[in-house]
Amino acid sequence: MLDGKRILLIIGGGIAAYKSLELARLIRRRNGEVRAILTKAGQEFVTPLSVGGLTHDKVYTDLFDLTAEADMGHIQLSRDADLLVVSPATADLMAKIAQGRADDMASTALLATDKPVLIAPAMNVRMWEHPATQRNLAQLIADGVSVVGPREGSMACGEFGPGRLAEPEDILAAIEQQLGGSGVLAGRRAIVTAGPTHEPIDPVRYIANRSSGKQGYAIAQALAQLGAETHLVSGPTSLADPRGVRVTRVETAREMLAATQACLPADVAVCAAAVADWRADTSTNSKLKKDGTGAVPPLALIENPDILATLSSAGPDRPRLVIGFAAETDDVVAHATAKRQRKGCDWIVANDVSPGTGIMGGDSNTVHLISASGTENWAPMPKAQVATQLAARVADALGAMS
Ligand SMILES: Cc1cc2nc3c(=O)[nH]c(=O)nc-3n(C[C@H](O)[C@H](O)[C@H](O)COP(=O)(O)O)c2cc1C
Repeated sequence: MLDGKRILLIIGGGIAAYKSLELARLIRRRNGEVRAILTKAGQEFVTPLSVGGLTHDKVYTDLFDLTAEADMGHIQLSRDADLLVVSPATADLMAKIAQGRADDMASTALLATDKPVLIAPAMNVRMWEHPATQRNLAQLIADGVSVVGPREGSMACGEFGPGRLAEPEDILAAIEQQLGGSGVLAGRRAIVTAGPTHEPIDPVRYIANRSSGKQGYAIAQALAQLGAETHLVSGPTSLADPRGVRVTRVETAREMLAATQACLPADVAVCAAAVADWRADTSTNSKLKKDGTGAVPPLALIENPDILATLSSAGPDRPRLVIGFAAETDDVVAHATAKRQRKGCDWIVANDVSPGTGIMGGDSNTVHLISASGTENWAPMPKAQVATQLAARVADALGAMS
């Protein structure tokens, strides 16, 4: 039940706008309060009269409407809400929110808020898959916006694929999850590692790798959105802390292991970091210098501790579910299957990071989920969606274990 929770429903200009009328009705049936903003394009699809008839309230359409501004200023409108829901979130609205634009009532309310925001995207499959929309989606997720849908299916335009608005019941469930604070992972503790490690050679040089941390950050965000108390241990990245996640930033593999162990006990550990296998044997506090003779300093390597194997080893602190990542360039599934057995973890998420795949540092991923019961090949999708899907699987698995 929503018991008096206040939803600010922002209806964009998409063909699925009519479904937001049903959403408004469902929110009220669950004892929630709903107030609506209808964009200019939204009014081409549904009328303020029908929206107001279902919200039992004035419908806000115009930023410069004097009566509306005197009655309930645009700032107050977003402050008074417990949650802002954008449905349908058109490609245009997603771009506006991602860029922080504020040129109408909807975008201004979205920029002026410090309340959680949930978007339900709906658009033609090509608009959804366009790199610009996927960039905006990644930005919105990084900014802490929650996303429900889109679903795959046939569309009003006659095409088939992802882009259909989530069903009003699914959006309602996402709203209740967001507001109840009792997501399916409430009461669970999660650890996620992400990013590369930097292994110093001297005070200015280090050994690193190309991991951006995007996939691990998205997973931490998705687990937190399902209610898990989530701790992210991150190597050096340029990414902002995911909202609602405790973050510890480290540099080396040894620091990452210590920070990870300090987060135990946990129900689930997701080791998405690209931890350096080796570090320089003798790192020095003085910068190495050329001596003019052409002599090259030797660079001996020694093995780093294995964080995934350490977390996977049996003991009272072993998380119930340990998930590793395997970034491979050839025989991806075979190598990852062997890695799962070698390390003793429960699942391995494997991906092909060969040059040309664009996965290292990119916004999309194509993964295989390998467990004792076999291999699932997931379709290519944005990293945010891999994260949401994996978090849902974690919730299922932990639910089945308890
Ligand atoms: C018939 C029709 C249907 C449309 N459906 C969608 C849609 O489902 N999703 C979308 O992103 N844009 C859709 N558009 C384009 C948007 O209406 C347009 O980008 C508009 O500027 C979005 O305004 P907004 O930011 O207020 O949502 C549609 C346009 C037309 C003419």
